[in-house]
Amino acid sequence: MPLSKESGLGAASASQIQPAKGKLGVMVVGLGAVATTLIAGVEAVRKGVAKPIGSLTQMGTIRLGKRTDANTPLIKDFVPLADLNDIVFTGWDIFDDNVYEAAAHAKVLEKDQLEAIRPYLEAIKPMPAVFDQYYVKRLNGTNIKTGKNKMDLANQLRADIQAFKRTVSRVVIIWCASTEIFLEPSEVHDSVEAFEKGLEENHINIAPSMIYAYAAMKEGVPFANGAPNLTVDLPFIQELSKENFAPICGKDFKTGQTFVKTVLAPAFKARMLGVAGWYSTNILGNRDGEVLDDPESFKTKEESKLGALEYIFQPELYPDLYKDLYHKVRINYYPPRGDNKEGWDNIDIFGWLGYPMQIKVDFLCRDSILAAPLALDLVLFLDLAKRTTGLCGIGIQEWLSFYFKAPMTAPGLYPEHDLFIQSMKLKNTLRHVMGEELITHLGLEYYD
Ligand SMILES: NC(=O)c1ccc[n+]([C@@H]2O[C@H](COP(=O)([O-])OP(=O)(O)OC[C@H]3O[C@@H](n4cnc5c(N)ncnc54)[C@H](O)[C@@H]3O)[C@@H](O)[C@H]2O)c1
Repeated sequence: MPLSKESGLGAASASQIQPAKGKLGVMVVGLGAVATTLIAGVEAVRKGVAKPIGSLTQMGTIRLGKRTDANTPLIKDFVPLADLNDIVFTGWDIFDDNVYEAAAHAKVLEKDQLEAIRPYLEAIKPMPAVFDQYYVKRLNGTNIKTGKNKMDLANQLRADIQAFKRTVSRVVIIWCASTEIFLEPSEVHDSVEAFEKGLEENHINIAPSMIYAYAAMKEGVPFANGAPNLTVDLPFIQELSKENFAPICGKDFKTGQTFVKTVLAPAFKARMLGVAGWYSTNILGNRDGEVLDDPESFKTKEESKLGALEYIFQPELYPDLYKDLYHKVRINYYPPRGDNKEGWDNIDIFGWLGYPMQIKVDFLCRDSILAAPLALDLVLFLDLAKRTTGLCGIGIQEWLSFYFKAPMTAPGLYPEHDLFIQSMKLKNTLRHVMGEELITHLGLEYYD
C-alpha cells in the first residue's frame, strides 16, 4: 500500500456497515460475578447514576487524520455501535438465582447500588444451562437441561437462541461462565462432521462451552469467550464462524495481572533490558477462585496466563536477554478477599553489563470491576463486526486481541500480546472499516 502524504498508510475503502437499528440481545453464559456486574453496571449507566469507567466503547476517543487536524471523536460517535439503551440481557446458569440474587451473592457491587435497580435485575432469570460436573469439578447446580445426548442439548440451546431472536433485532453471545478442565484439540474438533458425530455419541472431549459455541455458530450469532476454555479455539468452530457470518473472539479476559504484564514486558523489551525471572501469585476468594482451586481447571488458566511473556520477549531473537527466563504463575483460593483479588509480581531484571535489579508490583484489584467493561466492549464490537462487510465473514476477530490473555489468530500466526500494539490494531481496524486513513505515527510530514 503506498504511503500517503500525511501520517499514515493510504485510506482504505470503507466497508459497508449496517446501522445499529433496533434492540441488541445479549445472551450471557454464566450469570456469576462478571456477568451480574456487567448487567447491573449497564443499567446503572443507563439510569445516569454511574459512569462506564474502563469501557473503550463508551469513554474512548479515536484520532482521525493529522495531529494538527484536532479531530478526535468519541469511538461511539465514529462507528455505529448499539446504544446502551438498546441492549436487552438474558442468559443461562446452573443456579436458578435471578440476576439480583446472583449479584448479591457475588458481593461485587454495594447493596445500595443493587437495591436501586432491584426490579430490573430480578426480572432477568437464567435459562437452564448445559452443564456436566465432569468439566467443572467444584460446581454443582440444579438449573440444568437434560437430553438424550449432547446433540439434543445443542438443539435445546438453539431453540433458546431462536426464541430470544424473535424478541430483538440482533443477538450476541458472551461466555462469562466457569473455567472448565484442561482439554486439548482432538479429532472430534477437526471438522463439523466429526463434531456432530461426537455430539450424537456424547464424546468426552466435547465440553459444555463447545456446545454453546456450536449452537451460536449454527444460529449465525457472534460468540466471545471470556474464559480460558478451548470453546471457539477449534477448527470446526472457525469453519462454521466463516460459513455462517458469526464472528468469534477469545480467549480469557485480560483484566488484572496479565494486563499489567503485557504493559511492563514490552517496556523491558523496548529498552533491551533482560529478564531472569517473573514470579506471579494471586489470592482471590470468589467462586471463580474456588473453581480454579481444582488443579484441572487451574491448568486451563495457567496455560492461558503463561503464554504472554514467551511471545512478547521472543527469546529465540534475544537469547542473551530472555533465554533463561523463569516464569511462574500461582493462583490461591483465599475466601476472605472475595472478588477483591491481590496479585503480586516479582520481576528480576538485569541491565548494562548484566547487573541485576528487581521490580515488585502489588495490584489490589477488583476482578469483576475490571472485567465488566471488557465484556461490554466485546459484545458491542462483535455486534459491529457482524454488521460490517469486511469483518463478518473472516471468523476470528484478531483486532479484539486487546481484550484477551490468549488472543486468537489465524492458523500459523503468532498472537500479538503487547497491549499498545493491540490498542493500535483495534483503532486502525475501526479507521479501516470506516474508510479513514490508518495512523502509523511516522510524523515526518510535520517537518516538511
Ligand atoms: N473477573 C476477571 O477478572 C476474569 C478475568 C479473566 C477471565 N475470567 C473468567 O470469567 C469467567 C467468569 O468469572 P466470574 O468471576 O464471573 O465467575 P463466577 O464463578 O462468579 O461465575 C461463573 C458462573 O458460571 C456459571 N456456570 C458454570 N458453568 C456453566 C455452564 N456450563 N452454563 C451456564 N452457566 C455456567 C456458574 O454457575 C457461575 O454462576 C471465569 O471463567 C473466569 O475465569 C474472569
